[in-house]
Amino acid sequence: MSILITGGAGFIGSNLVDKLIKLNKDVIVVDNLSSGDKQNINSRATLYNVDLIDNDLEEVFATNDIEYVIHLGAQVEVSSSINNPIKDSKTNIQGSINLFENCNKYNIIKVVYASSAAVYGDPIYLPINEDHPIRAMSPYGVSKYTPEKYLRYYNHEHGLDYTILRYSNVYGPRQSSIGEGGVIAIFIDRMLKNKRPIIYGDGKQSRDFIHVYDVVNANINALQKANRKKINISTRSETTINRVVKIINGLLDIDLSPLYEEKRKGDIRHSILDNSSAYRYLDWEPEYSIKEGLKQTIEYYLNQRDKKL
Ligand SMILES: NC(=O)c1ccc[n+]([C@@H]2O[C@H](COP(=O)([O-])OP(=O)(O)OC[C@H]3O[C@@H](n4cnc5c(N)ncnc54)[C@H](O)[C@@H]3O)[C@@H](O)[C@H]2O)c1
Repeated sequence: MSILITGGAGFIGSNLVDKLIKLNKDVIVVDNLSSGDKQNINSRATLYNVDLIDNDLEEVFATNDIEYVIHLGAQVEVSSSINNPIKDSKTNIQGSINLFENCNKYNIIKVVYASSAAVYGDPIYLPINEDHPIRAMSPYGVSKYTPEKYLRYYNHEHGLDYTILRYSNVYGPRQSSIGEGGVIAIFIDRMLKNKRPIIYGDGKQSRDFIHVYDVVNANINALQKANRKKINISTRSETTINRVVKIINGLLDIDLSPLYEEKRKGDIRHSILDNSSAYRYLDWEPEYSIKEGLKQTIEYYLNQRDKKL
């Protein structure tokens, strides 16, 4: 009996795989390694280098006794989704449908789906709860939302169970600082090289930063709880980008002032997700404050740097 993690070579997926293996679960990973890294994958997990939209995906279901699926595999860059919405939709929408078709055919007990705060778009009110209107502003937001609708369809028509988790801004070990990356990974990478962090806008914009280990725990709880629910996974607290730089400076005992550049078009000013449903239905709460989370993340990057030396 195993758990299939799509996107298990990626930032969040690989952390989840590690935790499940620690809990003595059999873990299968499906990942086409487009943004994920083979090195991230725990040696006790089985990797299938398969694209979510390929027919070969069925082979993974046919040859393994899979009980649960946690679906994180996705095209994750907003800018790529704007430049190539067809490619984005192929992975995020068609890839998800192909996966759900197999889940249905092979009688999977449950799918836990990694959705995103991007589905809400520019918030009308804060904190954003799960009833906030869906106003996705990018093809990525649309392509993350559409599988939610398909899950409802598969449940209604075929009884496939699911939980939708909508994450806020995730950070922590293994996040990429390349490409769009996460702002925290990018700042830590630059500041460890003694380079000033670049902030687009005045830095007073805020985000709800959630540590990846908290996201991992929410996924594990969702295997047994919160059937047919959509649930925000967040800290319900906001941190400005200026404060992130200040905390990193403090933790590294340096004083690099940010370089301010022009605000990026379409950037949301403030984002906080209400997380009371997660408390209620998942019996989950975040364990990391932003300070503790940044401390842990910096330690990880320092370790990685030392290993390379
Ligand atoms: N990082 C965040 O802040 C955040 C926030 C909200 C939601 N999410 C969601 O969490 C999930 C994981 O994101 P992440 O930050 O770990 O990104 P990531 O890029 O590190 O992980 C995505 C993984 O999916 C794989 N993948 C991409 N296309 C594939 C395909 N066609 N077939 C098979 N595998 C494919 C990639 O190789 C990669 O390993 C995604 O679904 C993302 O939308 C992330």
